Amino acid sequence: MVSTHPAGVRNSGYQYFSESRSTTTSPNQELLPLTAKVNSNDCLEIGGCDVTALVAQFGSPLYILDEETLRTACRQYRDSFKTFYAGESQVVYASKAWNCMAICAIVHSEGLAVEVVSGGELYTAIQAGVAPEKLYFHGNNKSVQELQLAIASNCTIIVDNWLELETLADLAKLPVSIMLRLTPGIECHTHEYIRTGHLDSKFGFDPNQIDQVFKFVSNNPNLQCIGLHAHIGSQIFELQPHQDLPGVMVQWLKKAADYGLPVTHLNIGGGLGIRYTEADDPPSIAEWSKVVCEAVTAACQEQQVPLPKLMCEPGRSLIGSACVTAYTLGSRKEVPEIRTYLSVDGGMSDNPRPITYQSVYRAVVANKMSASWTETVTVAGKHCESGDVLIKDISLPPTQPGDVLVVLSTGAYNYSMASNYNRVPRPAAVLVKDGEANVIIQRETYQDLVRCDRLPQRLI
Ligand code: LLP
Repeated sequence: MVSTHPAGVRNSGYQYFSESRSTTTSPNQELLPLTAKVNSNDCLEIGGCDVTALVAQFGSPLYILDEETLRTACRQYRDSFKTFYAGESQVVYASKAWNCMAICAIVHSEGLAVEVVSGGELYTAIQAGVAPEKLYFHGNNKSVQELQLAIASNCTIIVDNWLELETLADLAKLPVSIMLRLTPGIECHTHEYIRTGHLDSKFGFDPNQIDQVFKFVSNNPNLQCIGLHAHIGSQIFELQPHQDLPGVMVQWLKKAADYGLPVTHLNIGGGLGIRYTEADDPPSIAEWSKVVCEAVTAACQEQQVPLPKLMCEPGRSLIGSACVTAYTLGSRKEVPEIRTYLSVDGGMSDNPRPITYQSVYRAVVANKMSASWTETVTVAGKHCESGDVLIKDISLPPTQPGDVLVVLSTGAYNYSMASNYNRVPRPAAVLVKDGEANVIIQRETYQDLVRCDRLPQRLI
């Protein structure tokens, strides 16, 4: 685990190596993937692969996913729930963070289930070999076709609203396993776009209607309600909201049982934050899990409810710090006394988070890891939009066109939210482990970009 870098070196790419890295550190508390090192050529290495060599071989920009970091995060969640909870538990990967076949297969091999929110995500997980009993289908506006696919694939459907409940009651000719998503009315401090647990949210049933909902389900024997679900938001650093949530949910679990529903599962969602900059200080996966497990146990004891099968549903904290994005530096524009722009060969199309949520990232120059940071620059993308800035005012060493800039912690909600804006092909992704790199997502080609285009005869 310990990297070869001189400990404590500051003002260079070494800064982002954790000095206290040990087996007890959680991946979500790290800026770099766990296998990151600096090799004898002063280049960044991940999963035993030199990042500059990966770019030379697979092109740029390139998502580089470290298998060990992802597997470590999976195991920390799984083992923490086993340690801190006396009942059964199941960790579910919220695949919206990054849904692709290889990632679904890795998390599944670690014993995790997979949560999907669209027919496309469901199809991908099935193609990756995820077992139906390990698939959970979310979404606030599932189409009839999506519901039919979900029924046919035997996954559990997390029902979000009345229309869905009524449609399912019509569609289900045999018992279908469902859970009910409720809006728990719990506030948390995160960006307003990624808060979901407060009452003014488009997700889940309003708790004021809970009796009608439970009654409706109890009158429909083909709707087998196995449990309840809530998710309160994302990139959360406080533990309090997750400490408060079980009290509310267990009370509803008890009520559901009073209506005769066979509720044995409780899913308390995801939301644990990760470190994007040195200022971020999220709790570890173990700390978060302990709080959740203890709060559920206490609420069950207090309300005299048997321990449910406890589920959590993290996305970002499983995959976020396992991936970096490597770019090649291009043009440089110096605006005297204002700022210096360094442009990269990607931008808001492969990482829309800065322009969408004003998210802040950190970066290193992969081929100049020990060079002192003597410049403050702004890393700009290549898109035709002034707001396409990946990182404002970051310290870097002096650079040349062709240097490889690596943006850290890009595993969550980067590839999954990527677009073809300006008809820029989406980058490739490689999975690295023990010095080996495998392409898990191919780079798009120009042919891919026009694959769905049609030119009507009269325009030719
Ligand atoms: N479960 C449900 C029902 C969710 O809606 C989400 C995230 C999760 C689990 C996983 O949350 P996580 O552990 O990743 O925080 N695009 C935004 C994040 C949107 C989160 C949507 N829901 C971003 O880039 O920050």
